[in-house]
Amino acid sequence: MKILIVGSGGREHAIAWAVAKSDKADKIYCAPGNAGIAEYAECVPIGAMEFERLVAFAREKEIDLTIIGMDDPLVGGIVDAFEAEGLRVFGPRKNAAIIEGSKAFSKDLMKKYHIPTAGYENFYDKESALAYLETARMPIVLKADGLALGKGVLICENLEEAKAGAETIMGEKKFGSAGDKMVIEEFMTGREVSVLAFCDGKTVKCMTSAQDHKRAMDGDQGLNTGGMGTFSPSPFYTEEVREFCEKYIYQPTIDAMAAEGRPFTGILFTGLMITEDGPKVLEYNARFGDPEAQVVLPRMKNDIIDVMEACVDGRLDQINLEFEDNAAVCVVLASDGYPVSYKKGFPIEGLDTFREKEGYYCFHAGTKFDDQGRIVTNGGRVLGITAKGADLKEARKNAYAATEWIRFENKYMRNDIGKAIDEA
Ligand code: AMP
Ligand code: GLY
Repeated sequence: MKILIVGSGGREHAIAWAVAKSDKADKIYCAPGNAGIAEYAECVPIGAMEFERLVAFAREKEIDLTIIGMDDPLVGGIVDAFEAEGLRVFGPRKNAAIIEGSKAFSKDLMKKYHIPTAGYENFYDKESALAYLETARMPIVLKADGLALGKGVLICENLEEAKAGAETIMGEKKFGSAGDKMVIEEFMTGREVSVLAFCDGKTVKCMTSAQDHKRAMDGDQGLNTGGMGTFSPSPFYTEEVREFCEKYIYQPTIDAMAAEGRPFTGILFTGLMITEDGPKVLEYNARFGDPEAQVVLPRMKNDIIDVMEACVDGRLDQINLEFEDNAAVCVVLASDGYPVSYKKGFPIEGLDTFREKEGYYCFHAGTKFDDQGRIVTNGGRVLGITAKGADLKEARKNAYAATEWIRFENKYMRNDIGKAIDEA
């Protein structure tokens, strides 16, 4: 088969790696890709939002399956654009990707179908939001409705911060039109867990659990980022929690989307908070997590193409998803200064060390080839260093050892990825 992957980050590298392992994949393209993805795929310089060019490319190359990695094109309707031309594509249509694209939509869906989540109100103008905040219980959470690169969520300790937050989102429009609507939500405490699931519109099959570390600095300090590291499985996602979520969250969500005339096909990513009152949904995403994919996919035993085709064809019920009985940890190597401002263009050394090493992976997030053909840094998140181990502690030790193999100027990482494991 000829496969096209759309995206350019560590998640798409992990997908490309998994696709390359499949006996079914004869030729892989990635648009636009990066220097690491280029090892498995021919990278084509077409942006993820250039739907017409992507569709034309897929027709010309007779692509058998296109896999959409990123949220923006999904929310923008790339799947509909491919389907309109009769092309096979893995991902939710626009009317289903809205589960990630509009937080107000997803909250209303959960309320209507009794799916456990934090209490909330939706707001369409700043004045009503400010009036509501006056008597609200603090801390409180403000969420820009639309996509905001994972930065549109503000946790406010007191009324002053909350008013300033409402001004940022709805007044200054810091996140653009994502702030035309805003969700104000009850603050929850507990352990966070990410669960990714394959869906075919009716059936949902969960992958192994993972946990992300979103803050930039050790001890969960600093700004929110796209994700500084992950581990899988989460020891806090116990059998009891899993059973509860399967009964009250995942299948009810897929059934709710179908009932609304928005069947969900692709990857449903549920961000959970395991609170004292039980698991509750923090958010939904309509694609693999980044860097969750970098710890989940290396542990998956199935051929990814088999599973994705089953989703597209509506026969996921026939697939038995299997994961290795081990653990994986991913530590992101970033450019110092991320997520605010940072320099790029520095040569990366040590990449070859990963070649002979079983159970170690170096997923490229922001890299490119420079004029001299060297691989250089090209983003805030540069590489995701993943290692497997018999258990989480061993995987963490291995991942941190492997971070030492890589050298580039302004290399930055968190030193406490997976530390929570010690408390489990
Ligand atoms: P989201 O993009 O909705 O996942 O939010 C980003 C991060 O903000 C989450 O991973 C949580 O750490 C935090 N967060 C979001 N909603 C809440 C909430 N209701 N209570 C506490 N923390 C939250
Ligand atoms: N790692 C969080 C996300 O992909 O949204």
